[in-house]
Amino acid sequence: MPHAKKISEIIRVNHAGEMGAKVIYDGQILALRLKGDKDTLKVVEDMKKQEIEHFNYFNDEIKKQKIRPTLMQPIWGVGGFALGFLTALVDKKSAMTCTTSVEEVIDEHYQQQINDIERIIESNYNEKSQNDLKNLQNNLKKFRAEEIEHRDTAYDHNARDFVAYKPLSRFIKFTTKMAISISKKF
Ligand SMILES: [Fe+2]
Ligand SMILES: [Fe+2]
Repeated sequence: MPHAKKISEIIRVNHAGEMGAKVIYDGQILALRLKGDKDTLKVVEDMKKQEIEHFNYFNDEIKKQKIRPTLMQPIWGVGGFALGFLTALVDKKSAMTCTTSVEEVIDEHYQQQINDIERIIESNYNEKSQNDLKNLQNNLKKFRAEEIEHRDTAYDHNARDFVAYKPLSRFIKFTTKMAISISKKF
């Protein structure tokens, strides 16, 4: 794949993914408010703050570089919100299962992109863009570290104790991976 196209793909899919993360937490926050679970609410709100920072970065890049956002944005918006709302409505532990599952996929996804960018940098493609590529890569490293923190926070809050941990986790990972591959292209 040409480098420029690869970079656009990276930004498009991450823009969609961080928006997805934000709406998942929006859904969870609504359910937790309805349930009056203030402790879990605080945990989720803190994670959401970082997702907003991640989203804002890709939102700026998508505008600056005039990259088309994914056409699936409205669908991911509704789907993400529903996923967050339902998982948090069932049990605070299933809300945490949702986070561990998504973040495990995102951890690998960001690492893959960090490696891809490294290869582009090494190929010395367009010297002028080397700094931009480094910046993008550094942001991905920072965001990845924060996603890993979210995963650990969710494990600390007993994600694994949810009765249907395995099937739910498998389902969410599958859905997340599908959303990623669709958002790259469309
Ligand atoms: Fe994020
Ligand atoms: Fe996250």
